[in-house]
Amino acid sequence: MNRLVVVSNRVAQPREARAGGLASAMQAALEQCGGLWFGWSGRIVDEADATPRMERAGRIDYALVDLTRSDHDEYYLGFANRTLWPLLHFRPSLLDYHRGDFAGYQRVNAAFARQLAPLLRDDDVVWIHDYHLIPLGAELRALGVGARIGFFLHVPVPPPALLAVLPHHEQLFPKLAAYDLVGLQTWRDRDALLAYFRERDASTGADGNVELPDGRRFEIAAFPIGIDAVKVAEQARKAAGSPATARLVRSLEGRKLVIGVDRLDYSKGLPQRFEAFGRFLARHAAWRARVSFLQIAPPSREQVQEYRDLRSRLERLAGATNGRYAEPDWVPIRYVNRSFTQGTLAGFYRVADIGLVTPLRDGMNLVAKEYVASQPPEDPGVLVLSSFAGAADELAEAIIINPLDPEDIVESLEHALSMPLAERRERWAAMFERVSRNDIAAWRQAFLERLAG
Ligand code: UDP
Ligand code: G6P
Repeated sequence: MNRLVVVSNRVAQPREARAGGLASAMQAALEQCGGLWFGWSGRIVDEADATPRMERAGRIDYALVDLTRSDHDEYYLGFANRTLWPLLHFRPSLLDYHRGDFAGYQRVNAAFARQLAPLLRDDDVVWIHDYHLIPLGAELRALGVGARIGFFLHVPVPPPALLAVLPHHEQLFPKLAAYDLVGLQTWRDRDALLAYFRERDASTGADGNVELPDGRRFEIAAFPIGIDAVKVAEQARKAAGSPATARLVRSLEGRKLVIGVDRLDYSKGLPQRFEAFGRFLARHAAWRARVSFLQIAPPSREQVQEYRDLRSRLERLAGATNGRYAEPDWVPIRYVNRSFTQGTLAGFYRVADIGLVTPLRDGMNLVAKEYVASQPPEDPGVLVLSSFAGAADELAEAIIINPLDPEDIVESLEHALSMPLAERRERWAAMFERVSRNDIAAWRQAFLERLAG
């Protein structure tokens, strides 16, 4: 079998508990088949080394590169997270573009290519991930790399008119043609990207083949990402008896538990969720002191102003709701700004009656799938899921809501809290079957088979 080389900005490093769907998914994918994982070390240095630092853990070899302060500011905080992230999440009003950031983004992609190319063999399969690295394939081709190269975008693709809001979009997106295969999370994302190229005179086929006006060809297809469902279910069973889960259960004193787990990101709809939980308590006085909402929200990209603003806003919202409704022995919103290992989270999901997943936009949302995989089959909880998460396509038996309508969330909480066991089991079984079938191994195999041609 050919060696798999995965490239991403964020790398899940051994012994580090870090939140983020890409890193947890690729960790699960690579653990199963082994390979090389190239990406950012997470370090910021004065002067970056010319060659990556090599490490090995289990079946994975790591090749890690450092970023200088200006690389980090322009490429990671700047173009990737102040420009592309808001744009791709349908929030052009939050977009902050600077030519210097775009230059830094291109410079870092070129530097990654120079450091990666010498490590590659012709029979490697190279798989590049996410919006940080769109130009990397073209940079590798320019250095003569002939291996098959695939690209997977973990985030959503907005419609063409929104993509065209990006300054220099016509320099950036056609670089996707350097890949043999471009994978997206849902058919909606695929259609949006195909439409973008069609509007620019490309010809596209029903099978996702694209030919640009200059003759370059590549393929675009949807591969909804999954989780290692067997492992998560196993972790949840084990964690059910763990001290951390036991402490959580004891603290509830028989109350119902609603859980949310998200990076502290404006795409996750957290203010709407907090606001809706407050309304729910206002409307349904009988539920006060009978239900607790645990929101785990590890801080993310804290040097970006929008993320700091969001954090203050959530502190105000949680404080206001808690101040209004708390009792001496009960706090409505337990708001926790730290990350937990996936094993610990699985235990928390398992004892939660409701998984509340309400992003305004999300490529997939793995937390929704992890919540489903963690449930006890005899008494499963209820998933409340935004229709704007990629996961909603596969999890239609969740209570699907529009997070922009607080009343919709309020009603869904009421509905979920009073759902009879038989209905909970039926909905859960259908979702669990799909999460198990479309798991991370199936996703990896489907993408790599198509890439192999
Ligand atoms: N996660 C974690 N610890 C935390 C919070 C989240 O390990 O404290 C993991 C979570 O289990 C999931 C991932 O981070 O695998 C989040 O992925 P998702 O697709 O839901 O959202 P993203 O952060 O990628 O936008
Ligand atoms: C999302 C993105 C990933 C990113 C993760 C965490 O899942 O799609 O590319 O790694 O968020 O964000 P961070 O900026 O910490 O890598």
